[in-house]
Amino acid sequence: MCGIVGYIGSGDAVPVLIEGLQRLEYRGYDSAGIAVAGRSGLKVHKRAGRVDDLVATLPKRHRGGVGIGHTRWATHGEPTDVNAHPHLDASGHVAVAHNGIVENAAELRAKLAAEGIDLVSDTDTEVIAQLVGIRAADMALEDAVREALSMIVGTYGLAVIDDRRPDRLVVARNGSPVVLGVGRGAHHVASDVAALVRHTDQVVHLDDHELAVLHADSYRTFTLDARPTDKQPATTEVTATAFDLAGHDDYMHKEIHEQPTTVARTLSGRLDRRFATAHLGGLDLSARDLLGVRRVKILGCGSAYYAGLAGALLVEGLSRIPADAETASEFRYRNPVIDADTLYVAVSQSGETFDTLAAVQEIKRKGGDVIGVVNAPGSTIAGECGSGVYIHAGPEVSVASTKSFTSTVVAFALLALHLGRVRDLGPGDGTRLIDGLDALPGAIDEVLRAEDAIATVAREVIAPAASAFFIGRVRGYAVALEGAQKLKEVSYIHAEAYPAAELKHGPLALVGPEVPTVVVVPDDHLLDKNLASVEEIRARRGLVIAVTDAPAGALGEGGTTGPGGDGRFAAVLRVPRTEPELAPVLLGVPLQLLAHHAALALGRDIDRPRNLAKSVTVE
Ligand code: AGP
Repeated sequence: MCGIVGYIGSGDAVPVLIEGLQRLEYRGYDSAGIAVAGRSGLKVHKRAGRVDDLVATLPKRHRGGVGIGHTRWATHGEPTDVNAHPHLDASGHVAVAHNGIVENAAELRAKLAAEGIDLVSDTDTEVIAQLVGIRAADMALEDAVREALSMIVGTYGLAVIDDRRPDRLVVARNGSPVVLGVGRGAHHVASDVAALVRHTDQVVHLDDHELAVLHADSYRTFTLDARPTDKQPATTEVTATAFDLAGHDDYMHKEIHEQPTTVARTLSGRLDRRFATAHLGGLDLSARDLLGVRRVKILGCGSAYYAGLAGALLVEGLSRIPADAETASEFRYRNPVIDADTLYVAVSQSGETFDTLAAVQEIKRKGGDVIGVVNAPGSTIAGECGSGVYIHAGPEVSVASTKSFTSTVVAFALLALHLGRVRDLGPGDGTRLIDGLDALPGAIDEVLRAEDAIATVAREVIAPAASAFFIGRVRGYAVALEGAQKLKEVSYIHAEAYPAAELKHGPLALVGPEVPTVVVVPDDHLLDKNLASVEEIRARRGLVIAVTDAPAGALGEGGTTGPGGDGRFAAVLRVPRTEPELAPVLLGVPLQLLAHHAALALGRDIDRPRNLAKSVTVE
């Protein structure tokens, strides 16, 4: 949420900052700005709107050897030119870009006002700029930052420059990521390696309560109380090509199509045929520890939570350990009972989601064991959990999660298999699931080959609708929730998911010819029940799209093959059959394409849906 970039070196900072902001725009895109310091002092340019709007209005003589940039997702103050970062102190020498929230901003604003300092923006960040500015005239910039931060309650990823000291760039972290990039004759800073990998593969991840001072040819890291931490660079595995569109028009499309590869990566080296189990190297729990687990509680937000719901069914089904999923934000605020024999699992693609992180900290504070199911290596949640399962889906740029949802469900299948085989799941079932998991990449590829037919349904049935329902039972319900989430996020069509049986308890009042319903129908013991729900919808003249792995004809779909057909369904989207436990992995993919093509038909900005941002690092 929000992106920060910074540069200090022998070249001009401006093109580096702009390119970095373009890479980070998925983290927030309601305004953007840069500040550079050079021979002619501090120059700031910031605008409401996209990075392209910033570039279009950038003055020609904007140059400097040190600079910072920011792309914003508004928390305090509307997305206006004035509220865009970087923010300046009253003297106009100090510029600050900030991710996170200053919780005591109101109190500090009042204090500054009493000292005669007028704040020009509505943001909490300007408070930091003023606090640094008051001190920076009389002390080293890093000391001024340190003193200012000692007054701040809240979270920050921070980058600060001062045109009186153009030989340095100061950054600090507490709860919001900051990564240093070590180059030749230059140093870079970003809130995400995405903005660094074109310049260097040598990176340093700052820890919370850490500060760094960067010069063109050196850097130093310290704790906030000025003790050196001597951080050495490590080689990042992330490559620049991970952020290319690779011939796709948008990242969501690219990432949907990456799924055969990313699922193969999630599985790579983890299927143990000898013992018919899954091998999870990052899980720091012995078989004896796992035998002691009496309950599994999964926590996440948004799509990560929905993947957790699918995961809970896998865990409970295969290991017979009671398992459920809950949104991380609700969990932490209801003063939960933490059991010593419950295994808590935090799910997060970014590894930076504030609510999930806070839930992890609450569990640890009360003495519970929590593992992570995380995509981003080295992220805050991964570090806080200490042990867990990386999903290895690679960087996900599109705000709408696709490949990370699928790989998270697959990671839960591995975890469930591992837990199950420690308990009562027999080797025959273990081998059956391994065969099923092994076949998933090929099966996803087959679903993707039906894209044209799915796109037609999206254009002709979904895109014209103002509202849609998604329903399913048990395994199908987790898929329905994610399908509705995808559609509303990228197309802005109102979509709601219900357990299929709940439809008749209220929402059916809205069903009619203008509200299509997507029914997720796994080929399991609930197939007939799902068909009964289909009939209830049809009796109200509602259009039904079925997504199923049941064989052709099993839904009584007759000759219906596409939109406008005269059978029971407006369309049937069929995926290959897999092991019943794994069906959610495949059933989710057509719903991603349905959302994508509905959004395309409506001309939406697919990778940058309004009001959203990729990683939600604020409450
Ligand atoms: C999904 O498409 C959304 N981007 C959102 O719901 C997301 O899954 C949620 O914010 C959690 O993010 P995380 O996985 O990075 O923790």
